[in-house]
Amino acid sequence: MSGKTDGVTRRSFLKTAGSTMAIASAATQVGNLSAQETGRKTRLAIVGTGSRGTGMWGSPVVRDYADRVQFVGLCDINKKRALVAQRLLGRGVTDQDGHLSDAGGQTVDATEIPVFTDFDEMIRVTNPERVIVTTMDSTHAQYVIRAMELGCDVICEKPFATDEEQCQAIIDAQKKYGRQVTVTFNARYGASTTKVKELLNAGEIGDLYSVDYAEYLDDDHGTSYFRRWHGIKENSGTLLVHKASHHFDQLNWWIGSDPTDISALGELRRFGRKGPFRHANCRLCTQKAECPSYWDITKSKNLVQMYVECESEDGYYRDGCVYRTGVNIYDAMSVQVKYANKVLVTYSLNVGAPCEGQFIVFNGSKGRIELRNYDRQPFEAPAVAEIRLMKNGHKDSQLIPIERRSGSHGGSDRLIRDHVFIPNSPDPMKHKAGSRAGIMSSIIGIAAYRSIERKVPVQVKDLIDISGFEA
Ligand SMILES: NC(=O)c1ccc[n+]([C@@H]2O[C@H](COP(=O)([O-])OP(=O)(O)OC[C@H]3O[C@@H](n4cnc5c(N)ncnc54)[C@H](O)[C@@H]3O)[C@@H](O)[C@H]2O)c1
Repeated sequence: MSGKTDGVTRRSFLKTAGSTMAIASAATQVGNLSAQETGRKTRLAIVGTGSRGTGMWGSPVVRDYADRVQFVGLCDINKKRALVAQRLLGRGVTDQDGHLSDAGGQTVDATEIPVFTDFDEMIRVTNPERVIVTTMDSTHAQYVIRAMELGCDVICEKPFATDEEQCQAIIDAQKKYGRQVTVTFNARYGASTTKVKELLNAGEIGDLYSVDYAEYLDDDHGTSYFRRWHGIKENSGTLLVHKASHHFDQLNWWIGSDPTDISALGELRRFGRKGPFRHANCRLCTQKAECPSYWDITKSKNLVQMYVECESEDGYYRDGCVYRTGVNIYDAMSVQVKYANKVLVTYSLNVGAPCEGQFIVFNGSKGRIELRNYDRQPFEAPAVAEIRLMKNGHKDSQLIPIERRSGSHGGSDRLIRDHVFIPNSPDPMKHKAGSRAGIMSSIIGIAAYRSIERKVPVQVKDLIDISGFEA
């Protein structure tokens, strides 16, 4: 998988997208009324039918929102994978958390959703009103822009964009076409994330001065990024964009201001060329026995059908070697951010820790909030989620109760799907995120990797022009 679409590079696509002859608007509007307003089912299409496209935005949507939405098209550069998605969506095969399930799901809809490898053709033939973008990160911008240009609303996975050029192209297109865009920041919806926002809004620690945010990815999860397309900066914008876009969005949302100045450091210590030996992928490797990162994809029937059996189309190895020399992202990163409202952030992201989760501290004029959020720990079980509120001048701290939820990503995936597919669903905490939030989250990670490359602090205003951009 090279970051190219049918032989066209990202950059040339972005350039031509703006000048391509206008194709008649594909939005199926009845007069000025949308499907949601007339009670018809909204016509949905997906571009990018990998695990997130099918497991989060495909099968669970067929299962839970079939009375409101109807899939009309599936598009992927890998036709075999699109056909796997067609089977999965046709059968609604997922467990209750939206993960693909070998156990078999209920038969919801036997319709065969048409499959395409050409995005424009899919839009022209199937007339979707909303397009879900779940492709590789560096290809989001081209589809977001093209979908708007063809008259569709957009639902895009994070990160919204992977470089400053893409950010500016999206800003310009959003201003021009004014379509509704949703960026699916499910991490905002987390129970502890939401509780912290409530405490900050209630002024429990007074004026917020600074935030210390430490993110740890354990061996299992952290290493997986280096096996996949994510390990190549040109595909993912590094983990500072791919992964940290969740965290930078949380920070922007908590702080309620725009980032202005970013400076960062990053190192690759364990993976890529730093590894002891290498091969193209784990399955064919002759050093399986010695390799600390050996991983057997054939243990998962789902992964075999979705990736191994589709390799003939694009040569993509889902079990790629974490030590292949092309890996050029960082595994240890540290970032400083200043906001327009003077709040300072110190952020770090480390891969290969013995625990998975975050330790976040909010320092304010009247006190401090500590959030410990560990999904997996080797020494303490089960997972820990704890919010402690400390007030200046008080000896005791207060343990703040956090809502217990079940489901994928702590129940957040279900909540965000309700927001996306149930019109006018209440949003008292302003969890819903659009283009502006998508850009402001991506741009911190982009500025961070530019700062690492250039060895200088970077200002957001030198990368993008957001004047008059409120979407
Ligand atoms: N919010 C979350 O918690 C969360 C979790 C996982 C993934 N994601 C996001 O979802 C997206 C997909 O991730 P995934 O894990 O499903 O990856 P994946 O590799 O399983 O799927 C990506 C799909 O996009 C296709 N693709 C790549 N380039 C394309 C192009 N130019 N045109 C059309 N299709 C193309 C690939 O063939 C593949 O089928 C990523 O952007 C990722 O950041 C978000």
